[in-house]
Amino acid sequence: MSVDTIRLISTGMWVPTKVLTNADLERMVDTTDEWIVERTGIRERRIAGDDIGVVEMGYRAAQDALEGAGMEPSDVDALIVSTATPDRLLPATACDMQAKLDLHSAVAFDVWGACTGWLYSLNVARGLIISGQIETALCVATEKMSAITDWTDRSTCVLFGDAAGAALVQRSEEKGRGILASYMRSDGSLAELLHRAPSSAQPIPIDVAELTARDGYMRMAGREVFKNAVRSMCEAVDAVLDQAGVAKGEIDLLVPHQANIRIIEATAKYARVPMERVWVNVDRYGNTSSATVPVAIHEARQQGAIKDGSLVLMVAFGAGLTWAGTLLRW
Ligand code: UT7
Repeated sequence: MSVDTIRLISTGMWVPTKVLTNADLERMVDTTDEWIVERTGIRERRIAGDDIGVVEMGYRAAQDALEGAGMEPSDVDALIVSTATPDRLLPATACDMQAKLDLHSAVAFDVWGACTGWLYSLNVARGLIISGQIETALCVATEKMSAITDWTDRSTCVLFGDAAGAALVQRSEEKGRGILASYMRSDGSLAELLHRAPSSAQPIPIDVAELTARDGYMRMAGREVFKNAVRSMCEAVDAVLDQAGVAKGEIDLLVPHQANIRIIEATAKYARVPMERVWVNVDRYGNTSSATVPVAIHEARQQGAIKDGSLVLMVAFGAGLTWAGTLLRW
């Protein structure tokens, strides 16, 4: 069996400058800073303006990753984009981003995995690279959650924010370095726990007033999602560690999806990783769907928490429900 795998050669991120604090939310819905911090760990989130969409946001994160690697757009063979909030439904967000990035010779397509989407995209890139079909992939997650948030629903509007993250990946030439194990799962029977209409089955009405009256926003059964989140992330921890033959105590840094500090703490406890070795930025950005993991990885690298040789475990879960884990030796 081939031992070839892929490594992340560069990462990038972009977040809007506009900050929405818990105090701001106290003026918008019936909530308190105390409730939000205690139940979620979130203190503030970033909100993109009306003038910027996910193509532009992802483009900026991708540029950051390309600059970090000193690479040209022509070096990229595949652009794989994860988003739950496309600017438009046709064509793929990746195709619009491809044009903006000037990636002449690449194939560009989207992966729909909600919050898990970026880990899915890494695994798709891994397959394409290992099978020899491409050499370099650019995996981008770009999410404008503020656009699908019902700002009158206190049970969801305090949770989400906007961000984009990216990584360039290539074949790893060094045995034991790069992605050591990947695990992907989903359970469509739990789709109603977190979803958003309209869809092709419920087409977008032409009348904007009618659209507002209908359910065009994300809806979530928070408590049920919470339970499934902990269960599925723990399952992903076990699956990737088993695959790689790595013990829980060996993980240098846990990079979990940033949805709720309590979910992060439960996962860390299960993985036996002390909180000092868990990357947490949910307090600053809230839940930015599939962008949370690449943004966290980028920040962790920039701040020296990921060094050469670090064993990094990434886990995520989201609407679908979907969940995944990726173990990587930097
Ligand atoms: O990326 C995947 C996406 N989603 C998630 O990961 C979310 C997973 N779920 C969660 O993080 C948590 O379930 C929430 C943060 C959404 C909610 O926390 P909880 O501890 O599960 O609270 P709850 O839904 O059980 O609600 C407890 C109470 C309710 O009031 P009553 O019925 O006890 O009187 C809610 O109405 O808190 C109330 N509540 C609020 N109070 C103040 C709900 N939202 C708020 C709010 N401010 N923003």
